[in-house]
Formats: sequence, C-alpha cells, structure tokens
Amino acid sequence: MERLRSFTHLNIDLVDEENATELLHAQAHVWNHIFSFINSWSLKCAIQLGIPDTIHSYGKPITLSQLISSLPHLHPKKTTHLYRLMRILVHSGFFSIQKTGKNDEEEGYALTDASKLLLKDNPFSVTPFLMSMLDPILTQPWNQLSTWFQNDKLTPFDTAHGMPFWEYGGHDTNIGNFFNDAMASDARLVTAVGIDKCKDVFEGLESLVDVGGGTGTVAKAIANAFPNTECTVFDLPHVVADLQGANNVKYVGGDMFEAVPPADAILLKVKLTRHI
Ligand SMILES: C[S@@+](CC[C@H](N)C(=O)[O-])C[C@H]1O[C@@H](n2cnc3c(N)ncnc32)[C@H](O)[C@@H]1O
Repeated sequence: MERLRSFTHLNIDLVDEENATELLHAQAHVWNHIFSFINSWSLKCAIQLGIPDTIHSYGKPITLSQLISSLPHLHPKKTTHLYRLMRILVHSGFFSIQKTGKNDEEEGYALTDASKLLLKDNPFSVTPFLMSMLDPILTQPWNQLSTWFQNDKLTPFDTAHGMPFWEYGGHDTNIGNFFNDAMASDARLVTAVGIDKCKDVFEGLESLVDVGGGTGTVAKAIANAFPNTECTVFDLPHVVADLQGANNVKYVGGDMFEAVPPADAILLKVKLTRHI
C-alpha cells in the first residue's frame, strides 16, 4: 500500500534493490510490444529493396559493401543505414553472417531457410502474401481496433474502409487480384506438404469441393495428385468469374452462406471470416 502511494506521487523510492530488475524486465516487455512492428516493416523494406534476391544472385555470402554496391536504387546518402536494417534482419533470423570464403577472414550475409521463402523464383515464395498482409489497406484496420470495439461494424476492416474485406476486392479488380495472388502464394507450401503427408484423407474420393477456394491453388494440386477426383473450386462470383477449369477441376461462383455444390468431401482451408 505504501509502495502504491509512492507510485501515485511518482516517488523514485518505488525502485528499490529488490524490485529494480523486475521493473526493468517489465519495461523491456512493454518496449518489445511497442516496437515489434519494426520487424515486419524491416522485412517488407528488405524485399522492396531486393535484398534476398541480390544475396541469392551473388551466389556466396555477400559483404555489406558488396551488398550496397549491388543495390542500384539505394540513395548514396542512405548507404550507411543499411547496416542497421541488416542487423535487425540477422537478429530476427532472415539472414545469417558467414565467412565469405574458406580462408577468408571477411564476413558476409547469407540467406536462411526463412529468407529463401522470399525469393522471387522460389515456387513456394510467400512474398506476395507478405506484401499484401503489410499493405496499408490491411494494416489500417489495426489502427481502428479500439474504434471497432465501440461501434456496430462487423470488422475493423469495415470500420476503416466502409465495406467488408471480400466486397472490397470485388470493387477493385487490381486489389482483388493482388489479394488472390497473396492467398495462392501462402497456400502452395502447406498444400504440397499436406497432400504428401495426408494422402489417406483424399484417396478414394470421387468428388471434392474447396469452399472459399480462391483461384484454385489447393484444388488444382489435389486434382493433379488424384486424377480420379472431380474437384470444384467454389468462391465468390467475382473471384472465379474469369477462371477456366481444366481436366478434373471446375470453378463455381456463389455464396457459401446460401448453398455449396454437393460433393463427397468439403475442404475449408483458412478461416473464411476476416477478423481484421
Ligand atoms: C482467406 S481466403 C482463403 C483462400 C484459399 N482457401 C486458401 O487457403 O488459399 C478466403 C476465401 O474465401 C472466399 N469467400 C469469402 N466469403 C465467401 C462466401 N460467402 N462464399 C464463398 N467464398 C467466400 C474469399 O473470396 C477467399 O477467396
């Protein structure tokens, strides 16, 4: 009680030898939460500058000065700041520091498993997913979270943009395609692993409908692995409007809350309601 009273008067005696460490840990905890967004933005920045692909093209660990001279669009006055960006990304596991050669004392940056997933030509690249999730259209709603808790809108997205997320994509084709590509890029790796590890789940199915199947990344992979299964990609009409089925894949537009095409199995991958 005495301590609380001191606190309300911002009395410095509040910090004594016993609780100093605890308090500093608590403050560090708060700082970590305040600044954790820096990780996301640093990663996005590295992709926009082309850093993962530049390191990959270099073919061996790249020194800071080599990296700077390989990034054509860096402003000459900003080159000294690149070290800090790389430091954050080494710390967060996107790059490692390695010797540049066998007998070389110099150190350079190398890719890690995580940054290999950001390379343009990696078939499992999640860069489109990252770029869309960190696009202002999707980050703005987070700024509206407390407003949303106090209004009657369904989602923070609706609060920020005046319409639900899926409707927004239907109004602007470029944005719609941007988000559909993002979802497809996120789906490739898990789908490949899922089909390989869970073959039993799909074997013997005559038909399957992927509800909210987007542009069909998952259904096409299943159809390819199980040619005797008729796969239907079911999604909102504007998502599937221009998509052509082939072989054992077809596209059907509609609203899952009204009806879903009949099939032996229904696949639902990734939740369909947006909480943002
Ligand atoms: C998060 S994405 C998932 C896409 C895909 N299943 C995947 O895992 O990559 C959700 C999908 O559900 C679709 N969707 C949203 N509301 C829907 C509805 N009422 N009826 C049918 N599809 C809907 C969206 O258009 C979007 O393609």
